[in-house]
Amino acid sequence: MTAARSNMPVLDSLWMPFTANRQFKAAPRLLASAEGMHYTSNDGRRVLDGTAGLWCVNAGHGRKQIAQAVERQLSSLDYAPSFQMGHPIAFDFAERLASMAPGGADAKLDRVFFTGSGSESVDTALKIALAYQRAIGQGTRYRLIGRERGYHGVGFGGISVGGLVNNRRMFPQLPGSDHLRHTHDLAKNAFSQGLPEHGADLADDLERLVALHGAETIAAVIVEPVAGSTGVLLPPKGYLQRLRDIATRHGILLIFDEVITGFGRLGAPFATDYFGVTPDIVTTAKGLTNGTIPMGAVFVKRDVHDALMTGPESAIELFHGYTYSGHPVACAAGLATLDIYKSEGLLTRAAGLADLWRDAIHGLRGLPNVIDIRTIGLVAGIELESRPDAAGGRAYDVFVDCYNKGLLIRVTGDIIALSPPLIIEPEQIGEIVETLGEALKRAA
Ligand SMILES: Cc1ncc(COP(=O)(O)O)c(C=O)c1O
Repeated sequence: MTAARSNMPVLDSLWMPFTANRQFKAAPRLLASAEGMHYTSNDGRRVLDGTAGLWCVNAGHGRKQIAQAVERQLSSLDYAPSFQMGHPIAFDFAERLASMAPGGADAKLDRVFFTGSGSESVDTALKIALAYQRAIGQGTRYRLIGRERGYHGVGFGGISVGGLVNNRRMFPQLPGSDHLRHTHDLAKNAFSQGLPEHGADLADDLERLVALHGAETIAAVIVEPVAGSTGVLLPPKGYLQRLRDIATRHGILLIFDEVITGFGRLGAPFATDYFGVTPDIVTTAKGLTNGTIPMGAVFVKRDVHDALMTGPESAIELFHGYTYSGHPVACAAGLATLDIYKSEGLLTRAAGLADLWRDAIHGLRGLPNVIDIRTIGLVAGIELESRPDAAGGRAYDVFVDCYNKGLLIRVTGDIIALSPPLIIEPEQIGEIVETLGEALKRAA
């Protein structure tokens, strides 16, 4: 049993997610409160949030407006079922989201399905794609295509199209799922500023899978426009448009997983807007409620939605949904979050900081073991040479060192990922680079 120290809870019962539980409990890091750009640890230290929590606290921490909206909602309608029943705030929130849907009014991704998380959004999108194909008489299309080094959450659908071996190797996957090759090419693109020049042709991998399986078996392809959790992998110039064109040519739906890129991360409301490439379905979560209350939303093209609104009016069109779909309290948090994003211009604020951010982060080039740096909007990936026989060890040491020096970063393998709240000020960007730079110098 782990002894309770002052300010230290007993740690035994909680089985922590995506964590080396025994290592963590031997040397725990606990965050006790948060305000603005900072956490306070349970031993009273201020920690600069270089990761917006887990890529979700886009408007910064401790937003009173959200807290008040949640409190009001809890005391007026705490919960209401969404199956064959409705409540006004879920409709209001969906209308509000539709009015700012990815791709703008022309794209018509203005039908919104609520979920409780990014993983649920992904599984929902995959199911909608399958249901759509069947509804238009394309029921032989059962395959779902993802991409190597993609992350789409942890549902069985999400891991089937995901490309992280550790998330897949123990679990069965959906029959027929397959993967495009990833686009990460250090030999050609290391230290690119802006989008990588090389690799648009990797979108042709979808043609390869069409040739291999037959287009008539493929329902949808899902990619993150910018892969976040797997190490900040940027799409090569022209790649996403090429994927769009190939998918359209073969009647395959294109899904953008914008769980990270949605709500301002790149400097536009969605990556769909940033890249000017319009998918058929967009998945979101995280920044939807500023991370405060778990919630996801799937934006669906009107045509796709309408194809399912057929048959007898008394028939349920999609046998899918969650107890917490459109949870009133989450909707209240989401509406207040959108108000903040709007009044503070946060959905485009990263655009104004992106050059400063890029230049500051690229200043880490030349430090020991740094083999690539990638930035876009307010995201950065810093890739380190792995230690022989100890992949991930070097970045993990940098992570712990930074935390001890008052900076929260995130690591995946030997890649450091940064994604601060979009309220960050230039001097805090300087602070991130300085603290991280010193830690990189110390990490042998
Ligand atoms: C692109 C992407 N999709 C899906 C997910 C899963 O979201 P959640 O952890 O809310 O289930 C994540 C989480 O990081 C993500 O980055």
